[in-house]
Amino acid sequence: MAVLIIAKNDRPDWWADQLRRNDPSLDVRVWPDAGDPADIEYALAWKPRPGELAKYPNLKAVFSLGAGVDHLFSDPEFPAGAAVSRVIDPYLTAGIREYVLLHVLRYHKNQPALDMQQREHVWDDRGHELKQADERRVGILGLGELGTASGKALAALGFDVAGWSRSPKDIPGIACHHGPDGLDELAARTDILVCLLPLTPETEGILNAGLFAKLPAGAYLINAGRGGHLVEDDLIPALESGRLAHATLDVFRNEPLPRDHPFWDHPRITVTPHNASITDPRSVARQIADGIAAIARGEPVPNAVDRELGY
Ligand code: GLV
Repeated sequence: MAVLIIAKNDRPDWWADQLRRNDPSLDVRVWPDAGDPADIEYALAWKPRPGELAKYPNLKAVFSLGAGVDHLFSDPEFPAGAAVSRVIDPYLTAGIREYVLLHVLRYHKNQPALDMQQREHVWDDRGHELKQADERRVGILGLGELGTASGKALAALGFDVAGWSRSPKDIPGIACHHGPDGLDELAARTDILVCLLPLTPETEGILNAGLFAKLPAGAYLINAGRGGHLVEDDLIPALESGRLAHATLDVFRNEPLPRDHPFWDHPRITVTPHNASITDPRSVARQIADGIAAIARGEPVPNAVDRELGY
């Protein structure tokens, strides 16, 4: 039995070290040095090349090195027999919660406009709307691990928080909406829209001109879900028409964001390089080593992903 790490740009040797540290008995291999493909029963993967995982005939489980699993299921040859486990980790959740708090607070305190004033040496403490947190309506798309944690933290700061998910939820402090009508209800009451959805065929392109038109004029957008959630061509027109006031984007259809992409230089777009939260091998490797041991004992796959739902 061997474990293969496939994470080309994501510190594969660090993952291997951390895994061995947690379970020295594991035979850990780092791609492309997989050895005999028949030995590989477990893989830790981040954005493997399409078709790569199909090469290991005895693969039992793939551990996604992030919260998202779309990078696995977009592979048409993803092995049907392999279970998928995703990361649910307090540090990963904290990273997203911090990112959401940072950018919601930045919008709440009108920081993008103040930055612009500073660049122009303008001292103007009057031209800004006075709003309290409880007058700021935040809408969170996706009420899984990350959306729920972010929503609760915002509610604890006094923001008026609602959320939307595919199926009904009941979360104290968050007004929960669901389904297609629920999305319209959420949009109509949202000043700051935060996307933390999984990318599935149902959520692909959900951030589009139609949804922006349902938000109050001058709303803000924060996308820390996936680039595929945003219809990129709809964003700049929404900003230029004033429908949206500003957008903060951590994820893009093409990553790295191409150097000549118009988002880089737009005065009302903040770009961050898909680092809202980073999976920390120091905490996650323990979970994965325990997960491998559990599966080897015949126990269920931890944090298993429902292949039908795609999350
Ligand atoms: C990163 O985007 C992740 O899915 O954890």
